[in-house]
Amino acid sequence: MRGVFLLFLTFTLSFAESFITKEEYAAGLYHNPRGVGCHLCHGEAGEGKLIARYRDKGEGKIFAGKAINKLPFRDFYLKLNSRILGMPRYYLTDTEIQTLYYYLHREEFKHAASQPAKTQ
Ligand code: HEC
Repeated sequence: MRGVFLLFLTFTLSFAESFITKEEYAAGLYHNPRGVGCHLCHGEAGEGKLIARYRDKGEGKIFAGKAINKLPFRDFYLKLNSRILGMPRYYLTDTEIQTLYYYLHREEFKHAASQPAKTQ
């Protein structure tokens, strides 16, 4: 009987988990993508962020995460599938990369979706 209850609980929990909206899923992935959150280096909206200032051989330098909210999808995709100096490698799936891209461009997507379809 206990086993059945546990099974039921697991089911309920996994169903409850799938009841999050696309917005929530996308926001969750951006902040917690199986590793360090993107926002910590690229800013809340992907606008870029200064991480540290340091001196190297007497020269003032900065370590910053670039803006990633203006890239075309192709560049975003290719960059995330390559090695980037100073950034953890995440090995994201294509769907995850699309979701992150959606997150950074969600207002544009929503705006486009609210426009009436053009008829020729
Ligand atoms: C530890 C800090 C750090 C984290 C966390 C991080 N990045 Fe980066 N990212 C960087 C740095 C540093 C660069 C290289 C910037 C440069 O070339 O000047 C970079 C570059 C990029 C680029 C390429 C930008 C360009 O125009 O060349 C993309 C796209 C990107 N990051 C996306 C992400 C995403 C999505 C996440 C979360 C899954 C993430 N990053 C997490 C530090 C980070």
